[in-house]
Amino acid sequence: MSKTEIIGFGVIGAGLIGSLHAKNIATRVAGAELIGVMDVNLAVAEKYAFGNAYATQDLDRLLNDPDVDAVLIASLTSLHSEHIEKAAQAGKAIFCEKPVAIDIAETRRVMQLVEDKKIPFQIGFQRRFDPGYADLARRLREGEMGKIEMFRSQSSDPKPAPEHYIASSGGIYIDSVIHDIDVARFMVGEIRQVTALGRNLVDPVYGKHKDIDISILTLEFENDAIGLIQNSRRTPHGYDLRVEVHCEKGKLVTEDERQTKLWRYDAQGIHGDYFYYFMQRFDDAYRQEVQAFVDALVKGESGKPDTQDAIESLRVAIAATKSLHEGRSVLVSEI
Ligand SMILES: NC(=O)c1ccc[n+]([C@@H]2O[C@H](COP(=O)([O-])OP(=O)(O)OC[C@H]3O[C@@H](n4cnc5c(N)ncnc54)[C@H](O)[C@@H]3O)[C@@H](O)[C@H]2O)c1
Repeated sequence: MSKTEIIGFGVIGAGLIGSLHAKNIATRVAGAELIGVMDVNLAVAEKYAFGNAYATQDLDRLLNDPDVDAVLIASLTSLHSEHIEKAAQAGKAIFCEKPVAIDIAETRRVMQLVEDKKIPFQIGFQRRFDPGYADLARRLREGEMGKIEMFRSQSSDPKPAPEHYIASSGGIYIDSVIHDIDVARFMVGEIRQVTALGRNLVDPVYGKHKDIDISILTLEFENDAIGLIQNSRRTPHGYDLRVEVHCEKGKLVTEDERQTKLWRYDAQGIHGDYFYYFMQRFDDAYRQEVQAFVDALVKGESGKPDTQDAIESLRVAIAATKSLHEGRSVLVSEI
């Protein structure tokens, strides 16, 4: 790590999310500088090598560059653990998109390596940095609403993901519901048991990859609260997302789906606008999570959510997958 207060970043994988991170680092994360963008597709790396950053297909060039203090890994999920391992061996701080891997043993192995080498690490659960989610979690932590009794989270994507993405994603729980699982852990606490119910009704491409596209997952928390996570890969009006937590003294809800507060009334009906996609809905949260990582690095600290959060959320997601396949409730301790 350089001793300066500017953190030099190398981005690995500049697809949908990597390109957004590259742009944020180059333009709106204080104390960060985009040094290089690496992608197997050089044209993609070149397109998103903003400012003075270089584009490369050569991972070693990025990892051997002394100006690169930290890497942001946004390659496909199946490549994360390999990229984490190489970056850790090169002594670079690591921000990795979720999940670390689809396999728990592999996740534990690389997270242990990161800890043994004292590499600063943060996992990309950006919802924790959304103002509504962060405020709701803080109020629960401070006990404003009394004892937590029931958690409910709903997330639905407007349309199915591309097939190459589905094929390597690990399935809906490991790829998508893992965000809701992280939020459940963040707001309520550790999860003891899950029960999954799912179908492939939206698009046969999910069935082709032995995946489902609608799901209801019930949660039993260690503190005896209960919860429900509802997901779909299709909500044609746009990204559909809310969290509701029922407590002793009332409930807290965050559901900021609309881009503006404007309603239009006309002969076709009543219209409000929506965030169509998670990229817009969490635009600032994606910036804030990397800002928090940079601020931690400058202070000589590691990031949060951390290696343990990466492992625990994946354990719950794997338990959910097992529950779906075996048609029974699964204790997270089985994973
Ligand atoms: N936090 C979030 O909300 C969020 C949102 C989207 C994606 N993600 C995660 O980010 C990761 C990437 O998702 P995406 O939607 O951007 O996928 P994507 O397919 O759009 O991008 C992946 C990129 O990786 C590149 N790549 C392939 N092999 C590579 C290699 N060996 N080295 C370097 N780059 C390589 C591809 O060329 C592509 O540009 C996934 O793990 C996904 O789970 C997280």
